[in-house]
Amino acid sequence: MGVLGTKHLLNIEDLSADEIYIVLDTARSFEEINTRTIKKLPTLRGRTIINLFLESSTRTRISFEIAAKRLSADSINFSADASATQKGESLVDTVETLDAMGLDMIVIRHSYAGSPHMLTQHTDAAIINGGDGKHQHPTQALLDMYTMREHFGYIKGLNVAIVGDISHSRVFGSLAPGLSLLGANVTAIGPKTLMPAYPEALGAKALYSLDDELENYDVVYMLRIQQERLERSPFPSLREYSSQYGINLERLARMKDEAIIMHPGPVNRGVELNSETIDIANNLLLDQVHAGVAVRMALMYLLLGGDQDGIAA
Ligand code: CP
Repeated sequence: MGVLGTKHLLNIEDLSADEIYIVLDTARSFEEINTRTIKKLPTLRGRTIINLFLESSTRTRISFEIAAKRLSADSINFSADASATQKGESLVDTVETLDAMGLDMIVIRHSYAGSPHMLTQHTDAAIINGGDGKHQHPTQALLDMYTMREHFGYIKGLNVAIVGDISHSRVFGSLAPGLSLLGANVTAIGPKTLMPAYPEALGAKALYSLDDELENYDVVYMLRIQQERLERSPFPSLREYSSQYGINLERLARMKDEAIIMHPGPVNRGVELNSETIDIANNLLLDQVHAGVAVRMALMYLLLGGDQDGIAA
């Protein structure tokens, strides 16, 4: 084990506050490398990383792949469509088969909560959770915290509203406890039908109106309405949802001048954010995507035994 006291990143709670800051500081070192013309280091040469994405993804899968390549690891993308999972092979059998080829790390995205933890019982490789069902998405939380810290210079004391489909959100499941651990004040905002019973268990207070305290927030973090995960009809229509919980020009005008808007992507344009607010607002959506590469480089490097002194120039 390296400077992080964990072999895997399954949940954000696997990291202490100090360890989160080690990841963020290491990511900043890699960020500098990402601005160079030649964006490649020999750091993970000879290490093998499999991206096992069994649910769709653009940002997470591609940024993990770029991160591994920039560190010179041998990275392999596992495609469910072209694999024996199409013939009915189970996840456990798939992982034991891959493990027999000699792996150092598996990044997994899967629709079942807990699947990354289950993999740890079937391989010696380090596991990173790239999003498991409605449970957690810890690398998204880390890149979001990195983005906030780079923008404001600090996280402790920030007033962060996380808005929308709280109960189905693995982004909320990791970001709220992560921010809370670092001393931010987190408010979960959404309709009662999309609010878990005890959001305070994840470090957030609950509010049901975006308008009540809009002037107070430093960060307004919009969650995607996950139409693929909604059971029954938690709100009358997307139009009604957007009128109550979307960011439009009127709400934008009420926010602090220095407040920022964030969103994990992909955005439902016209629902969480309308096109005018995406294009003109102080939004950091692409900064988040940009941060994803450096943060994932940092995690791969640290989980595979690196320390901050070992980043080759
Ligand atoms: N934010 C996020 O997880 O996006 P993808 O589904 O595109 O990976």
